[in-house]
Amino acid sequence: MEKQVSLPRGTKDILPDEVQLWQRIEATAAVIFGRCHCSEIRTPIFEATELYARGIGEATDIVSKEMYTFIDRGERSVTLRPEGTAGVVRAFIQNKMFALPGPQKLWYSGPMFRYERPQAGRQRQFNQIGMEIFGTSSPKADAEAILVSLDIFEALGVQGLEVQINSLGCPDCRGNYRKALVAFFENKKEEYCSDCQSRVELNPLRVLDCKVPACKALNQDAPSIQETLCEGCREHQKELLAFLDSVGTSYRLNPKLVRGLDYYTRTVFEVVSGSLGSQNTLCGGGRYDNLVEECGGPPTPAVGWSFGVERLVMILGGKGNVLPLDLFVASLGEAAERKAFELAHGLRKSGLSVETDFSGGKLDKQIKQAIRLNAKFLLILGEDELARGECLLKNLSERSQGAVPLEGAVEAIAGLVK
Ligand code: HAM
Repeated sequence: MEKQVSLPRGTKDILPDEVQLWQRIEATAAVIFGRCHCSEIRTPIFEATELYARGIGEATDIVSKEMYTFIDRGERSVTLRPEGTAGVVRAFIQNKMFALPGPQKLWYSGPMFRYERPQAGRQRQFNQIGMEIFGTSSPKADAEAILVSLDIFEALGVQGLEVQINSLGCPDCRGNYRKALVAFFENKKEEYCSDCQSRVELNPLRVLDCKVPACKALNQDAPSIQETLCEGCREHQKELLAFLDSVGTSYRLNPKLVRGLDYYTRTVFEVVSGSLGSQNTLCGGGRYDNLVEECGGPPTPAVGWSFGVERLVMILGGKGNVLPLDLFVASLGEAAERKAFELAHGLRKSGLSVETDFSGGKLDKQIKQAIRLNAKFLLILGEDELARGECLLKNLSERSQGAVPLEGAVEAIAGLVK
């Protein structure tokens, strides 16, 4: 045999026994998005590299270390999307969706690419489902966005989640916080990891997101952004929390929550799960009131989030699902096989899920196959049945059986099985 080619590091095959759960997640999300009048958008999987450099921020780990960037045959630098927001913002601007009436609510689903060190819950190709609300700065939109994500998780039966919330302020008050942070890091800079030492220069808030234990310990005493928020940002957060309180949603204010992308203003939030291990963030998002303008559109406030589908699948533990099968068609002899083929085709058209025998082997082997596939019904058509102008239908769960005339068999069997 030839040497096998393996799948690329950090990617995963999603096999049939897991795909059913993926379909359930996607279908549940689509229903819940529909209930809040949120429409689906589909954008390209690659975009001009500049979009991410501008949108996500040059100093972020994503842009500086993790992008799949290449020069295409037309000498353009393009990048496989590391996240969905920047592409949706680009589409929102390019398609002049800002001219449409009212806030625009958009959702998306699909693969994202980040060159990260693979581990449980962290891949190089992973899938996100996300939503973005454009055109309102109301804290009610932040609350609605958070609730939509929680509604999806609840509908899927996920338990034990915690919502963490912080505000990163607006460009005005964040400047004061940066100063306070830099002053705090000043005397301890040498004690931080080398990445954090350069973060202090480029983007001091990112130091708070460092996962290195020594940095985490040092960050314990860092000043809290909550203390430097301006009146407007404080009020915005207060109202968001009041909306969440009004529907009884619990959350934890986490003043150290900063997120890994630079576009956020005011609200940031994460939904974390105790059952995920070290990569415990299931969903992350926040408000980004300046991104549309920074990407060349008119000033448009916005808020959104996305969750990692692989992480949700890990929580739900969805392997081992077998595709349900209504009917297995077994046949013996050439003429019977042809008639059985015709019946199976007709029954599929009438809406049943039907599998047939491909082996042409003995009848008891075919019956074993039907049982192995967990078929609800078994249809047997041998030469004797064919000669009598009927087939045998067995209900495998109730262990009952009866003859069905071949004339009108499709309608009769479809009626019995349904
Ligand atoms: P993010 O926090 O970078 O935010 O990613 C959101 C979610 O995607 C994470 O919470 C995680 O579940 C999943 N995820 C991220 N990286 C990986 C990975 N390497 N492997 C597996 N899962 C991963 C964003 O992407 C923002 N665009 C969210 C947003 C939308 N903010 C505003 N609107």
